[in-house]
Amino acid sequence: MGAGRVTLPDTERSVLRVLGGETVWPPPAWVMRQAGRYLPEYLATRAQAGSFKALCYDPALATEVTLQPIRRFGFDAAILFSDILVVPDALGADFELDAGEGPRLTPTATGADLARLAPELPLDRLAPVLDAVGRIRAALPSETTLLGFCGAPWTVAAYMVAGRGTPDQGPALAAARSDPSFMAALVDLLVQSSVEYLAAQLEAGADAVQIFESHGGVLPEDLVEPLSLAPIARIVAGVRERRPGAPVIVFPRGRADRLRDYAATGASCLGIDQGTNLAAARVAMPSGLASQGNLDPAALVLGGDALDRAVDAVLAAAKGHPHIFNLGHGITKETPPAHVARMLARVRDAA
Ligand code: CP3
Repeated sequence: MGAGRVTLPDTERSVLRVLGGETVWPPPAWVMRQAGRYLPEYLATRAQAGSFKALCYDPALATEVTLQPIRRFGFDAAILFSDILVVPDALGADFELDAGEGPRLTPTATGADLARLAPELPLDRLAPVLDAVGRIRAALPSETTLLGFCGAPWTVAAYMVAGRGTPDQGPALAAARSDPSFMAALVDLLVQSSVEYLAAQLEAGADAVQIFESHGGVLPEDLVEPLSLAPIARIVAGVRERRPGAPVIVFPRGRADRLRDYAATGASCLGIDQGTNLAAARVAMPSGLASQGNLDPAALVLGGDALDRAVDAVLAAAKGHPHIFNLGHGITKETPPAHVARMLARVRDAA
């Protein structure tokens, strides 16, 4: 807890109660990428900042966009507005977001490239982000949980090796096969950086953190353990060494085949994508462990009866379990904000 910050007991925050293994009904709800391009007020603030990257590093404006979806919808959790790629940026890989083309970084594809990065995370470069965390916590209603986050090492490495997003993470998969010691060293740097970064977010006022393994689904069977499970387990253990008992959500998108193994990383909660049957996932998971997600972002674009049916299906599968209502992946920019309000009203009406 930071000095001078008055907070009510954590038990006031329904998302934290679920992360502690409690079944709360109706389930608390938030949405991945809830501060984003489907909101006109987000687009206006991004324009004011000048660029996506400038927005990420401006504590006042990052605070503003984090709070926008809370004001509009009253979600039960806010997630820090930032990006998983600020970690490679701080390490020296120069992140930019190219409008329409996605993220760009200086590629880190060989041991020589890696030697040009900082040997450990220069946390001072992320000071504006940590400043935003403190401002957001101070401005949020006391019952709203604040989530920090980072990308899992493999997912971040996939962007670093290619220097951009790719359809299949091909460059990083090729590097993992052709130069396994380079890939191990890159993952190591990201494990240590992520521990420092997440612990600092918790220190600055985040109540819990989420680790996004968005591209774990492409890993061949023999690489899941060394490149995804083991690094995530090291991050969870390292964060808890510094912040005992810290709640950690792990989102292993596309890896429903390994939920028990992701549970064994020490996660407090597993994110479930929309390609997974939530009832089957609940059977596979340890029974007291929280789950999160599963609503198809496409249903939220459609709205109407299709949305109602999709919401009801998630609620039916989640009932009786510790679950946080969310999407199976980020909200898309085509989503009408009114559909988000409709979804939340239906969740809060759940019998
Ligand atoms: O959830 C939230 O509201 C918090 C903010 C957040 C963003 N990115 C904001 C953002 C979070 C948690 C992320 C995580 C992130 N970033 C991931 C993991 C989750 C996932 O979606 O799989 C990944 C892979 C990234 C990397 C990244 N950042 C990509 C691939 C892109 C381009 C996406 C696109 O649709 O064009 C971004 C940019 C980005 N990050 C935007 C937002 C709101 C859109 C930027 C804009 O134009 O304003």
